[in-house]
Amino acid sequence: MTSASDRLAGDRIDYLAGALADHAPADPLTLFDAWLQEAFDRRESHGDITDPTAVVLSTIAQDENGTSWPRSRTVLLKGLDARGAVIYTNLASDKAHELVESPRAALLLPWYPLQRQVRLEGTVTPVPDEESDAYWASRPRGSQLGAWASHQSRPIDSRETLEAQYVEVEARFEGQEVPRPEFWGGLRIRPVRFEFWQGRAHRVHDRIVYTRTAGPAAADAWERHRLQP
Ligand SMILES: Cc1cc2nc3c(=O)[nH]c(=O)nc-3n(C[C@H](O)[C@H](O)[C@H](O)COP(=O)(O)O)c2cc1C
Repeated sequence: MTSASDRLAGDRIDYLAGALADHAPADPLTLFDAWLQEAFDRRESHGDITDPTAVVLSTIAQDENGTSWPRSRTVLLKGLDARGAVIYTNLASDKAHELVESPRAALLLPWYPLQRQVRLEGTVTPVPDEESDAYWASRPRGSQLGAWASHQSRPIDSRETLEAQYVEVEARFEGQEVPRPEFWGGLRIRPVRFEFWQGRAHRVHDRIVYTRTAGPAAADAWERHRLQP
């Protein structure tokens, strides 16, 4: 019997999309913003990037023997500016504990239909309460209740128990606004490195890397170079 995994080595598509010039903008945020816009446009035109804001977050976890392991999961990117990239999560989750222990993270945005990926690595700090409050207030009520109902990353005996927890919080907050739980909030990843990858013909792809220079703090500057694919 053949399985989809048997197809992996033989599967091939041509990467023919546009070039990433050596004179890419001096600020990686400018390029990121242009690519993000194109990812949103692609969703409008083709629908094949279902969520342009989905990002793979990688953390460093220590096991009980003190060995470090990389761990990855998808989250949603909720902001990116000169201060960094913002995600929201349960602050008692595995990922949040890992980021407290080792406050360094990698983010990967996989925009395959555009033959692009963006990687960034940076240091992690909590988002101020007022900022988490503002984003919390913008979430649909069901998502707010879901955050209360789930002890993220903890085991539970059954789906029924989980649904019972949702029903319990629904009743608890009936007729009132759902407050932001203390255990839920934002984390900001301040990038020290960005990499933009653009697929090109014959696997001779473009890779442009930006690294933050240790210049005067007020004038954050970036060094830019090209990597072989
Ligand atoms: C498309 C997608 C979007 C997700 N967005 C989030 C998110 O924004 N925040 C979050 O905490 N988990 C999100 N998740 C769930 C995480 O991938 C993960 O299962 C959860 O956060 C627990 O991870 P942890 O145990 O490593 O902390 C998302 C999953 C998918 C597939």
